[in-house]
Amino acid sequence: MKKRVAVLISGRGSNLQALLDARQDAYDIVLVVSNVPGAAGLERARAAGVEALVLDHKPYGKDREAFERDLDHLLVLRNIQIVALAGFMRVLTPFFVRAWAGRLVNIHPSLLPKYPGINTHARALEAGDDVHGATVHLVVEEVDAGEIIGQASIPILAGDTPETLAQRLLEVEHKLYPECLAKLARQL
Ligand code: GRF
Repeated sequence: MKKRVAVLISGRGSNLQALLDARQDAYDIVLVVSNVPGAAGLERARAAGVEALVLDHKPYGKDREAFERDLDHLLVLRNIQIVALAGFMRVLTPFFVRAWAGRLVNIHPSLLPKYPGINTHARALEAGDDVHGATVHLVVEEVDAGEIIGQASIPILAGDTPETLAQRLLEVEHKLYPECLAKLARQL
């Protein structure tokens, strides 16, 4: 049985697109939720015939958990089995992370445990690294710290900027994420 996956986004959704394009026997994407109204990824979902909803975090103010309780409710109503974060720009509270433990996955643009957090491409360049990469991992309470499902790397080239590096890495992310999501879906 294909696992029922929800993808959470905040923006352009190129990783969402890759996950949609690679749907096969292991998983199906049945719901996309954006916390940002008008996120480009919503249209990608609709074009693929997938339900796409906005749950704006702003009306919840500082009450992150109230936002997550409503999000959780949406997911449970649709019998979601795996939640995939794809450019979802909200840090999740222990409430949500515990509710979805082992079934909540993220893609991060660095070779974790190197460079958790933001500006990963610039940090890899500043450190003089000669390889960079992306990691798909389970989400735990500590940011970008959960069990690693898979990684892929690219060489850093002379003349690379954070932008060129991000662009080259994105192509690698688009292969890595579907592979790792399928792997997790088969394990559950
Ligand atoms: C990607 O770089 C991903 O690694 C990071 O956020 C970005 C999302 O891009 N978590 P997109 O919205 O999937 O195009």
